Amino acid sequence: MPSPSKEGAGVLVRPMLETDLTEARRICRVAFGTFLGVPNPEDFFADREYVFTRWRRDPAAALVAGLDGGLAGSNFATNWGSFAFFGPLTVRPDLWDQHIAQRLLAPTMDLFRKWGVREAGLFTFAHSPKHIGLYQKFGFWPRFLTAIMSKQASPRVETPLKLSALKEADQDQAIIACRKLTDSIYEGLDVTTEIGAVRSQNLGETLLLWGGESLDAFAVCHCGAGTEAGSDNCYIKFAAVKPGSGAEAAFERLLDACEFLAIERGLTRLEAGVNLNRGAAYRRMCERGFRTHISGVAMHRDDSPAYNRSDVFVIDDWR
Ligand SMILES: CC(C)(COP(=O)(O)OP(=O)(O)OC[C@H]1O[C@@H](n2cnc3c(N)ncnc32)[C@H](O)[C@@H]1OP(=O)(O)O)[C@@H](O)C(=O)NCCC(=O)NCCS
Repeated sequence: MPSPSKEGAGVLVRPMLETDLTEARRICRVAFGTFLGVPNPEDFFADREYVFTRWRRDPAAALVAGLDGGLAGSNFATNWGSFAFFGPLTVRPDLWDQHIAQRLLAPTMDLFRKWGVREAGLFTFAHSPKHIGLYQKFGFWPRFLTAIMSKQASPRVETPLKLSALKEADQDQAIIACRKLTDSIYEGLDVTTEIGAVRSQNLGETLLLWGGESLDAFAVCHCGAGTEAGSDNCYIKFAAVKPGSGAEAAFERLLDACEFLAIERGLTRLEAGVNLNRGAAYRRMCERGFRTHISGVAMHRDDSPAYNRSDVFVIDDWR
């Protein structure tokens, strides 16, 4: 396949189709595997799924760069109401540094504009001047580190209420309560598409902690191979606690609930990402025995902290 010119000419960016998924996933794995220098890049993260599941969640938010009848790369945008992020963004390694990522990012920014998001961000490699320089061109600035952390799951007594155990109408009410809770942290923040994806694609479970009539906390978890968790893992994709005086205690109960889920599913490891500017949450996780295995950086547009604030008990990492 011939290479595009330096300006990415010959590259056509278009919505991802179902027929693109297998090749987009191959490129995604080989791109990360090559960048990280693993021995068999094509097998990188082979037990984790991002491409098929994100496309199914929102096909209109998945873009590919087509080149001469094949694919050169892809990108996924995520719409969380008033906030959006993108990734995984990947380009075939033999086509790097030919502006293909930038060709994918321009229409990604158009999507953010169309969605009317207030702020946007991304997670990237803190040690890579290329990544940071690339995203700065689109108005994103490096702010705080984000720690991807993990611990062995331990047996816990907290028995969480599972969304899947509720009747259909009660599930809908619970999802509305989740939206209200995130709105109280950052106006318009809405992760109900993640809850819907877990529910419809059977990726794991959403856990709910009620305090009387209102929701104290919830966690959207991916479980095992074929999800963002990978084999043997329970991955907290997003979790949030209602702000206020009881937040710290509710955060502990929520983490207990996630460990309970992991053990119940026969998964030995719990993985969760937290932005280090959410200082109280990060410290609680360190004290619980979580250890960081990847340090990345959150980049923000327009250089604003969004909901990465010291009093916020949220777990997510924008990967
Ligand atoms: C990261 C990735 C998507 C970039 O794709 P690409 O098509 O090579 O990127 P582009 O050619 O569009 O842009 C490269 C830009 O990086 C920036 N850059 C590179 N080196 C830089 C440096 N040392 N300092 C500052 N900026 C730098 C420049 O802005 C450059 O654009 P320019 O040539 O116009 O100046 C690709 O390398 C990849 O797939 N990597 C593996 C997977 C990955 O890391 N994905 C992103 C995760 S957040």
